[in-house]
This record gives sequence, structure tokens and C-alpha cells, in this order.
Amino acid sequence: MTTLLHIEVSPMGENSISRAVTAEFLDAWKAANPGGTIIERDLAANPVPLLDGEAIFADYTPEADRPASMAAKRALRQELIDEITGVDAIVVSTPLWNWNVPSPLKAYIDQIIIPGVLDPSTPGLAGKPVTVVMAQGGSYSAGAPLEGWDYGSGYLNQVFTALGSEDVEVIVAEFGLAGVAPGMDDFVEAKEASIAAAKSAARNRVAA
Ligand SMILES: Cc1cc2nc3c(=O)[nH]c(=O)nc-3n(C[C@H](O)[C@H](O)[C@H](O)COP(=O)(O)O)c2cc1C
Repeated sequence: MTTLLHIEVSPMGENSISRAVTAEFLDAWKAANPGGTIIERDLAANPVPLLDGEAIFADYTPEADRPASMAAKRALRQELIDEITGVDAIVVSTPLWNWNVPSPLKAYIDQIIIPGVLDPSTPGLAGKPVTVVMAQGGSYSAGAPLEGWDYGSGYLNQVFTALGSEDVEVIVAEFGLAGVAPGMDDFVEAKEASIAAAKSAARNRVAA
């Protein structure tokens, strides 16, 4: 049976652009995979803990010597690793915040990467297509005033490629703040066009 891991990050609920675009992907995925299973990991509703010293030292401590709190922190990391390496495909839905990924997503990435367990040497995501849907408030496309300031989409591509996926696609919906933030009304049409294009790309990603 085919299994998809669906990771959500935006806390904006039904106002979230990344969630709306990803919903198109999920509808297409369900249609293409009748009987498939979707594992939901909503980092807005249930964030994972920040990686702390005790969790890090677990991997330098023989299993039998780990105190209970350390063992529990290491067990959570293993649970997250087993989850992402146990599925057939992954979709990550996230905003761009302050030119990078929101901290709950970074915390998740820090939890799942353990040298020798899930890292570029293992590589646990081999054979798994990864789709990243990112909503941005503005645009960082070629020629935009802030071209080059988006450190989020390239970073996520790097993370999932480094972990072994040979098929990472990043779908970006731009200008999310148009019609919302002051001074961006000129970009409302571009926003609508970008969201429509992202939804189409999300559906086509499943068909491909
Ligand atoms: C805390 C915060 C920081 C943001 N930083 C950026 C940014 O650096 N670049 C950008 O283009 N948009 C930024 N935005 C705008 C969001 O990316 C945009 O509203 C997007 O639609 C959010 O995704 P969502 O609708 O799925 O929540 C930021 C929004 C918030 C709330």
C-alpha cells in the first residue's frame, strides 16, 4: 500500500496559502492512490521539541547508560526518522518566514538528521519523491528587488536531496501579502496568477 507523509507548518488555518495549494496535491494524490495512506504531521498544531543537549548526547551515550529522559528524547527522534523513511512519498507545506523556513520546520529537520542514522551517508530518502510547497509574501524571482533573499526553498531542496531523494520539486506561490500588507495592492493579480499556477503544478506533480 502506498503511503504519503504530509507535513504542514503554517499556523494560518483556512487562510493559509501553502495549505490551500497543498490541498490540491492531496486531492490529486488520493485520486491517484485509492486505498493509500496519508500520515499527517502538523507542526503548527503539534510542534516537535527543539533539539537540546541531552537529546544530542544520547548518540554519544551507550543505550544502557541513557537515563530515562535521554532515552525518551532519542526515542522521539527515532520515531520521526522511522516515519519519514517508512513512507513512499513526502509533501512538505510551508510558508517562507524571515527569508527562511519557520522555526518549527527547522526544529523538525534538526530532530530527524542523525549522523549515520539519517544523513547523506545512509541515505534514507532514496527513491522517495519529495514535494515542497512554499508560500511567500513577496517574490524572489529573477529580477525582483529582493532576488537572492529566499534562503528557504533552496535550503529545503538541499536538505531532501542530501538525505537521498533524487526527485525533489519545490512549488512556490508568490505575493501572498498582496491585498493584505500595505503598499502591495499592485500585486494582487500576480498573487492570484501565482497561486493558480502553484495549484496546477501541485496537481501535475502527482500526475507526472
Ligand atoms: C513571521 C512572518 C514572517 C514572514 N517573512 C516573510 C519573508 O521573509 N518573505 C516573504 O516573502 N514573506 C514573508 N512572510 C509572508 C508569508 O510568507 C506569506 O504571508 C505566506 O502566505 C504565508 O504562508 P501561509 O499563507 O501558508 O501561512 C512572513 C509572514 C510572517 C507571519
